[in-house]
Amino acid sequence: MRVVLLGAPGAGKGTVCKSIVDEYGVDHLSSGDILRKERAENSELGQQAQNYMDSGQLVPDDLIVAMMAGAISKASEAGFVLDGFPRTVNQAEKLDETLNANGIEIDAVVCLVIEDEVILERMAGRRSCPQCGAVYHVTNLPPKVEGKCDNDGAELIQRPDDNPEVVKQRLVTYHEQTKPVVGYYKSHGRFYEIESDQGPDNVRAAVLSILEEPVNK
Ligand code: AP5
Repeated sequence: MRVVLLGAPGAGKGTVCKSIVDEYGVDHLSSGDILRKERAENSELGQQAQNYMDSGQLVPDDLIVAMMAGAISKASEAGFVLDGFPRTVNQAEKLDETLNANGIEIDAVVCLVIEDEVILERMAGRRSCPQCGAVYHVTNLPPKVEGKCDNDGAELIQRPDDNPEVVKQRLVTYHEQTKPVVGYYKSHGRFYEIESDQGPDNVRAAVLSILEEPVNK
């Protein structure tokens, strides 16, 4: 199965991807997670991406397209869910070229829809595990022990780009550069929108029921 998951920063893409991975055994290809790993390793790509990420801007398309094409080429037979990519129409076109060249089709494009005001509240309460990448929220999705990851007990952190001023810039970037990607996929069929301002369990159920319909496991 191959899925593209679209949505604004904080719409809940990473959270629902975990459910898709658990259900279908596909690879979670998150452009943001890959970039954060590159930064943690202080690679050349990580250094190039750093200032863009910390200021809420998009990393240049050529860097991202090469990075994600590499990740897709290594994905397992079960398939993948793309989280945070494509984020510009140019990236979407380049993704199509990569997929066509490899004889691969996307089974579904799912877009999580949510108001900006809800996002600001979600980002303020988000906590992430620096070791395994698990995502929590202080009230909506708290860990079992406050401040500790359920999976490995690591101290949870706030992402630097969850600072309110950077979140506002990320939303501007989303509306200007990523919203057009929704239009791009709407005309391609197998496009679904899910209201994401409902609890994580409801979003999970809505997304999984869509994926059951058009694709084979
Ligand atoms: P990236 O890491 O992709 O960030 P993002 O798209 O801004 O998305 P987030 O990870 O912030 O949010 P999410 O939608 O996954 O929400 P989550 O599930 O965590 O990108 C970071 C940066 O990297 C970009 O700004 C850019 O610089 C660069 N970059 C990445 N990809 C790029 C690309 N393709 N091109 C160029 N640059 C790129 O949920 C958020 C919170 O809400 C959590 O606390 C969660 O517990 C809670 N929550 C989730 N679902 C629910 C629910 N249903 N109800 C209540 N609470 C919920």
